[in-house]
Amino acid sequence: MEQDTKTALITGASRGLGLALARRLAAEGWALIVDARGAEDLEDARAELAELTRVVTIPGDVTDREHRQALVGAAREEGSLDALVNNASILGPSPQPALLDYPLEELEEVYRVNTLAPLALIQAVRSELKHGARILNITSDAAVEPYEGWGGYGSSKAALEQLSAILVAENPDLRIYWVDPGDMRTRMHQEAFPDEDISNRPLPEESVPGLIELLEGDVPSGRYRARDLAEARDASSAGS
Ligand SMILES: NC(=O)c1ccc[n+]([C@@H]2O[C@H](COP(=O)([O-])OP(=O)(O)OC[C@H]3O[C@@H](n4cnc5c(N)ncnc54)[C@H](OP(=O)(O)O)[C@@H]3O)[C@@H](O)[C@H]2O)c1
Repeated sequence: MEQDTKTALITGASRGLGLALARRLAAEGWALIVDARGAEDLEDARAELAELTRVVTIPGDVTDREHRQALVGAAREEGSLDALVNNASILGPSPQPALLDYPLEELEEVYRVNTLAPLALIQAVRSELKHGARILNITSDAAVEPYEGWGGYGSSKAALEQLSAILVAENPDLRIYWVDPGDMRTRMHQEAFPDEDISNRPLPEESVPGLIELLEGDVPSGRYRARDLAEARDASSAGS
């Protein structure tokens, strides 16, 4: 194993933002460990990424403890992690029910995937994180804006944001970011707006430069909007 190869564990990298980020990191030579529940899509992603870098794919569900242990095992074999990106997420039922009508078993699943699994993965990989490793928890504007109909998904992301903030308070040595990628033209977004033409939404690739800034720059822990970060970096490089 090369000493200076960086390694990232990205959850939910078979499509959407996770795959867009994996493609960019692969092109930069990062080694990757990635997962998703759907084995076929994940295999397609593996075949593409493996053209560029070393990639380990582990099909499975982030809510499953054994699957998380398999991810940790892969991180150990890679010689520890430079980044953990908790990206895998579900919307819940589509169309999204109002909170007074929200089936609680489905709400529990949304919380298990979006809130508890990211914390469980951070707990599980803590001893595999290199000094200065970055933890990115992908959240949403729905975590902070009380949009009608977004009570399930939005509150799960709000809880993820507060978990992230408290992890920073409890572990000032860790670099933890909770990041709103903005609206993106992905399957999840189409599920959120089932009757809308979403072809005017930006592709997930447009949110990737901001994530790269967090992974490779020297940004303090905290909450960020991915596209704002990229704009700020572009403005400062244009001014210098
Ligand atoms: N799209 C937007 O407009 C938007 C806006 C704000 C925030 N976000 C956030 O951005 C992130 C990426 O979203 P996206 O739009 O790219 O979603 P997406 O296209 O639905 O992709 C989600 C990825 O996560 C995987 N996944 C879902 N549940 C999983 C589980 N339980 N275990 C393992 N993998 C799982 C999916 O594969 P499988 O289904 O095969 O498991 C897929 O690879 C999410 O955190 C989302 O909340 C999205």
